[in-house]
Amino acid sequence: MAQVLGIGNATLDIIHAVDGYPQENDEVRCIDRIIARGGNVANTLVVLSQLGHACSWAGVLAETAEGRFVRDDLESNGIDTAACRQLDTGSMPVSSILLNTASGSRTIVHYRDLPEYTCADFESLDLKSCDWLHFEGRNIEQLELMLRWSRAQFPSIPRSLEIEKPRQGIEALFGLADVLLFSGHYARHHGYDAPEDLLYSVHVSSRQADLYCTWGEQGAVALDRLGRASSQPAIAPPRIIDTLGAGDTFNAAVIHGYLADLDTASLLRHACMLAGKKCGQTGFAGLVQAGS
Ligand code: FRU
Repeated sequence: MAQVLGIGNATLDIIHAVDGYPQENDEVRCIDRIIARGGNVANTLVVLSQLGHACSWAGVLAETAEGRFVRDDLESNGIDTAACRQLDTGSMPVSSILLNTASGSRTIVHYRDLPEYTCADFESLDLKSCDWLHFEGRNIEQLELMLRWSRAQFPSIPRSLEIEKPRQGIEALFGLADVLLFSGHYARHHGYDAPEDLLYSVHVSSRQADLYCTWGEQGAVALDRLGRASSQPAIAPPRIIDTLGAGDTFNAAVIHGYLADLDTASLLRHACMLAGKKCGQTGFAGLVQAGS
């Protein structure tokens, strides 16, 4: 069992399931309402925990009922929250989500009023027993300090970086991690029509890292640090029900692939299988079962 520390967000997700996406200024009934813990890194840790790893979360919690809900959920998923910073100011980040059950698409309106986790918080952690560090690509200035500090102090711990949203200055971090996990959204935002085009372009200046990019219903591609490309078509479930957190699931499976010493083809296949399985069910419960 490997020890994984995830640094990033946990959120409160208020999910309204609708059976078709509404028009602006419509009034529609939702068919289900779910209140869940979310957040990219938190979701990734939940899946890694199901995959058998000992996970800890480093992020910020507000001392509110919502903060307690989030902490309880993480702990009930076996995730250690001792590294989190608890604050009596601000409130938990909240995502109001419209989940279209006809397509599985999720539309997110995000509210945030909480200070960020700092490099000083991170430096106070004892990382000696850590086998993997996974960072969410946000809070760029502090994140750069964390990546530099962990590389200097613990050069042997592998570090992955999620790049899901285009954020000012995030490119400065590409040289500081061993595994870069890009979303299709990031690639398209930067004008790439194919995931390998983004990866080849990043590879030119980030030759220390293995690169991955997801591409929705087309699957995912990888380009390793030696410039060897691989791809895997999506493994779609019989019906797409809920795509919320599919990318976070893919990232968890990639990290697991390294910890389990899988070759790139097996790692990509497993990551696409698990992300596909996620799209076929609501939430993350029971995503990993024996044999998956
Ligand atoms: C899914 C997710 C949600 C969260 C939102 C934050 O990837 O982490 O759980 O509300 O994205 O951007």
